[in-house]
Amino acid sequence: MELRVLIHAPRGRDAAVVSSVLGGHGIEALVCASHEELMAALEEGAASVILTEEALPELFSNGRLVHWLRDQPPWSDFPFVVLARKRDSQRPEKEFASLHGLGNLVLLERPLNAETLVSAAESAVRARRRQYAAREHLDELKRTRGELERLNGELENRILTRTKELASANDRLMKEINERERAQAALTQVQKMEAIGRLTGGIAHDFNNLLHVVNMNLELVSLYAKEEKVKPVVDRAKSAARRGARLTNQLLSFARSQSLVARLTRVNQLILGMKDLLEISVGSGIEVEFDLCEEDATVVLDPSQLEMAILNLAVNSKDAMPQGGKLKISTGTRFLDGDRDLPEGDYVLLTVSDTGDGIPPAVLPKVFDPFFTTKPVGSGTGLGLSQVYGFTRQSGGIARIRSAEGQGTTVEMVFPQADEEADEAVPVRQQPAVPALAGACHILVVEDDPDVRRVIVECLSLIGYKVTEAANGSEALASLAAAKPDLLVVDYAMPDMTGAEVISEARKMVGDMPVILATGYADMAAVERLAGKPRILRKPFDIAQLGDAVSTVLDGAREKVAEAGSV
Ligand SMILES: Nc1ncnc2c1ncn2[C@@H]1O[C@H](COP(=O)(O)OP(=O)(O)OP(=O)(O)O)[C@@H](O)[C@H]1O
Ligand SMILES: [Mg+2]
Repeated sequence: MELRVLIHAPRGRDAAVVSSVLGGHGIEALVCASHEELMAALEEGAASVILTEEALPELFSNGRLVHWLRDQPPWSDFPFVVLARKRDSQRPEKEFASLHGLGNLVLLERPLNAETLVSAAESAVRARRRQYAAREHLDELKRTRGELERLNGELENRILTRTKELASANDRLMKEINERERAQAALTQVQKMEAIGRLTGGIAHDFNNLLHVVNMNLELVSLYAKEEKVKPVVDRAKSAARRGARLTNQLLSFARSQSLVARLTRVNQLILGMKDLLEISVGSGIEVEFDLCEEDATVVLDPSQLEMAILNLAVNSKDAMPQGGKLKISTGTRFLDGDRDLPEGDYVLLTVSDTGDGIPPAVLPKVFDPFFTTKPVGSGTGLGLSQVYGFTRQSGGIARIRSAEGQGTTVEMVFPQADEEADEAVPVRQQPAVPALAGACHILVVEDDPDVRRVIVECLSLIGYKVTEAANGSEALASLAAAKPDLLVVDYAMPDMTGAEVISEARKMVGDMPVILATGYADMAAVERLAGKPRILRKPFDIAQLGDAVSTVLDGAREKVAEAGSV
């Protein structure tokens, strides 16, 4: 239908003639008698219209064709062939077309021959074919554009989803990076504390031995000295040695290698026992408040070290409150799970807080470091918090500090809670006493430091014991069989074997014999593993403490033998 030619020539025989000429040339033609017929056929589809000039006025009068022409799609410029009557003068086609609103117009003047008509009809059909091609092209373009828009939309959606995924992956990555940085910082801090701890422990151990030698020799001097004048001089020297011993004690405590004497301790009782000491230590300008929990907060630790830790914290708080303020000591018990430093379990919390100056953020990470102090030269050693840190770590807990400038400081010590049923045996402190049977007992002293060894040997001899000495573990084991001592006094840290190893080997050789581990520095876990719970004599000690330890251990051994005999 789209290629047919419509013929509208209402008057005369024109329509029939044109139709037959076109038909004769293979052009499909349809004659439309009325203008309604023409419009209906146009709307169905046609390539061109051949019409006579006389038909134009009626065709344009009711406006239907005009609307149809105006509403043509952009690709369409419908071709008309108008058979005009003969004119005298040449009328330009343009003027004619604009007159009637026909855009694509071929004007043929009558009379015309068949060839002209056919050629005009063919060229109109060709023109229309080109328009149809353009239509297809436009349709294709529209389809492609639609497809392109759809793809663009899809792409945008995909980009949006990918962007969201990337953003969330990025968030996760940032979280992981932060987490890793935090873990790395914590690890670095732990490694730093470990490294400083090893260094400090080593120095403190050697220094402790020196102090020990000084101290015991001073005792010997005061024993041997005939002149009364010597006594106060020795006392002054001994008091300096004691101060030195306190220092090494704190250092060893930080290094977590102190020979702690752990036992079941009720924290609340211990704090109440320190009440007067604390109040005197902080002075009258500071109010001391105790907020102790109802329950028995029991822990297994060295109570003298806990006292020292609390005192260190109280003194720090006092120094931070020169104008006065409040010191609060509280205790509590708590079940912890998911704590980053501690395994899941029941814990006892001991908190010391003050209303003092607080600590600036830049200083806070350093306060547990040994020798870190902000106090003027001579007034602080920087070992108080180091002792607190090392002692809590060695007791299986942790110490933490919170502080803000101008808002006071809180130090929290967390210890694993002890089982109430745990062994409550408290070693009895006896008055120093020289055993009556001293002369009958034989002691083997094993100590690698010649000065320390000499002074111990001399003191024991002075008390009245028979003493054999050995400079290391192998020497001790060699002389063990021959000497058959009643008691072994052993140092812990020695180059070939540790004191614990010597005790373990000696027991294998001669059975369960009484021993004293004389040390300031010991891996207590290793000691317990190898030698059980030997009597610990903490260096530096004096003659009375040595005599006390020796006689207690020997008495205990004698009692055991007597019990075994009576059974
Ligand atoms: N309660 C506190 N308030 C404010 N600052 C504190 C407090 N406790 C500790 N600090 C800061 O931490 C530093 C280290 O404390 P630490 O107890 O280890 O050593 P020190 O008090 O300086 O000396 P010492 O060995 O005599 O105790 C202090 O110098 C101080 O700057
Ligand atoms: Mg301090």
